[in-house]
Amino acid sequence: METNSKPVRDYAVLFICLGNICRSPAAECIMRSIVRQNGQTRRYYIDSAGIGSWHVGQMPDSRMRIHCRQHGYECTSLARQFTNEDFDKFDYIVVMDEENYNEIARRARNDAEKRKIVRLAHYMKKHSFCTMVPDPYYGGDKDFEHVIELLEDGCEGFFLRLEALKTR
Ligand code: 4NP
Repeated sequence: METNSKPVRDYAVLFICLGNICRSPAAECIMRSIVRQNGQTRRYYIDSAGIGSWHVGQMPDSRMRIHCRQHGYECTSLARQFTNEDFDKFDYIVVMDEENYNEIARRARNDAEKRKIVRLAHYMKKHSFCTMVPDPYYGGDKDFEHVIELLEDGCEGFFLRLEALKTR
């Protein structure tokens, strides 16, 4: 059980999207899988949250759960809303698009908090031309598949970046 204080890990990472039922819970389980495969589970605290409150307490969108399972990920975290205390608990707040960025940045109380906000697209390698992870909520199967591809690319790059920082 985690407490309200900052988790004692090398890195505490919070993924953010609008509803916390499609992109960010998928990013959470993909990042957790990458961390586990690299034997680093104990060093990372990973969570996700939404900007809106519409889906609080709900399972991820069933389409996202199905697409994640097809790729070997269990996407099961319950939706919650971002709170300002998340700035205290997390080292990195990883957003999916500019709308997310602007909303979280607006809530930052100082520059140190603002510096915690990063864009997942910034870490993509195979999709280095991408600037965001688009919202698949009103899309179809292809859009969910595309999101998983982008999240895998971004999370892999982000993980490598964090691991490189550790060895400095
Ligand atoms: P997400 O997708 O931000 O990736 O979780 C959405 C989910 C729900 C809504 C919008 C985006 N919504 O408007 O309810």
